[in-house]
Amino acid sequence: MSNHNSSSRDATSKLWGGRFTEPTDAFVERFTASVSFDQRMALEDMQASLAHVQMLSEVGVLTSAEFEQIATALKAIAEEVKAGEFPWSVSLEDVHMNIEARLTECIGAVGKKLHTGRSRNDQVATDVRLWLRGRIDQIAAELTRLQAGLITLAEREADTIMPGFTHLQSAQPVIFGHHLLAWNEMLSRDYERLMDCRRRMNRSPLGAAALGGTSYPIDRARTAALLGFDQLSENSLDAVSDRDFAIEFCAFASILMMHLSRASEELVLWTSSQFDFIDLPDRFCTGSSIMPQKKNPDVPELVRGKSGRVNGHLIALLTLMKGQPLAYNKDNQEDKEPLFDAADTVYDCLRAFADMVPALTAKRENMLAAAAQGFATATDLADYLVRKGLSFRDAHEVVGRAVAFALNQQRDLAQLQIDELKQFSALIEQDVFLVLTLQGSVAARDHIGGTAPSQVRAACVRARALIDAR
Ligand code: ARG
Repeated sequence: MSNHNSSSRDATSKLWGGRFTEPTDAFVERFTASVSFDQRMALEDMQASLAHVQMLSEVGVLTSAEFEQIATALKAIAEEVKAGEFPWSVSLEDVHMNIEARLTECIGAVGKKLHTGRSRNDQVATDVRLWLRGRIDQIAAELTRLQAGLITLAEREADTIMPGFTHLQSAQPVIFGHHLLAWNEMLSRDYERLMDCRRRMNRSPLGAAALGGTSYPIDRARTAALLGFDQLSENSLDAVSDRDFAIEFCAFASILMMHLSRASEELVLWTSSQFDFIDLPDRFCTGSSIMPQKKNPDVPELVRGKSGRVNGHLIALLTLMKGQPLAYNKDNQEDKEPLFDAADTVYDCLRAFADMVPALTAKRENMLAAAAQGFATATDLADYLVRKGLSFRDAHEVVGRAVAFALNQQRDLAQLQIDELKQFSALIEQDVFLVLTLQGSVAARDHIGGTAPSQVRAACVRARALIDAR
């Protein structure tokens, strides 16, 4: 590749410099430039340019020789970018003008035909969509990997009893696998949201040009097909200014991060010595520089913390767009950093979770012992009395008094003698101890979505079928 010092890299001769009489202020040049961050879209920019020039040659605006020459050079420039050898220049403002200028450096005057019938406005809208589509597909794969790991873990823990909580107070015993499948449900909805976002995003703005379309006989359907878009973003004014897809992606990302944050919070609680329900492998934890005994759950804590910046990006994009008149405005250049960071953050957090969660060890005895505290089978005793003919409200009252008695004695319901229990209701008989056990309690919740081990196993089968069908 030739000649980095041609006039296109001279600050006084911008690609748009024709009507200007003085060079851009040096600070303004830096202030308005986006190349430091939008160079991440370089390969997508060239992919879109290739489709554009191929279409231009097919409709006769470029000769096939011109198309071949531009295409060959764009591919060589793509290799420069991949090798980290591209000479990025802030004075060329953004990724689009850097690449166009480089093309002209490489092949001379023919390179100046690349921008025929398009504008940076439809170009950037196209590039961002292509970039995000690729990132969405990586995120979808990582989300599926996490779900597969969760389902495997849920199968392994389909008989593990833990306390279920409401208000973070011991409520009823549940199966640990059931709890993990609750996380999986949240992630299934996130996957659906991501696919919805991808579907609405995958429309081609290319051909909208600056704002009103172009006077060349372009074939928008052709470039859309070449780039793998399902449809056109039809109206040219909307096509260049729409950033709904970026907002939708950040909404997906914020909700997903909220879910990962909730799961993180539970992991942090469960690893504490007060709960001591699980162990995370050392490779996902760090120590303290002062307290030698510490093993901190840094990965879940960081995931919980990173939900904040993703929420911030959603608000940033909503605020960025809310006051903009049609069509393109320079404001839109501010869409990229929040979008890129949201995508990176979500990807990294999913990756950490997909590696970490299946590797946790359930401390089954501790979970069981905790489930046995806090009168977790009190509801089962009430249900038992209802089966013997009492109304639920009266049963609730009876069990409340039994709990107060046991609490006073510092014993669990299952530890009371039959005669002690009978003083609260004559309906109580020896068979009561079947329902007062934790195993009896979970096994009784034997309907779809319930926590009985057999139901948890069936739910795992259904959950796996859902992700296998993706
Ligand atoms: N760097 C710009 C952006 O990110 C590209 C589009 C600029 N278009 C324009 N007419 N100034 O939005």
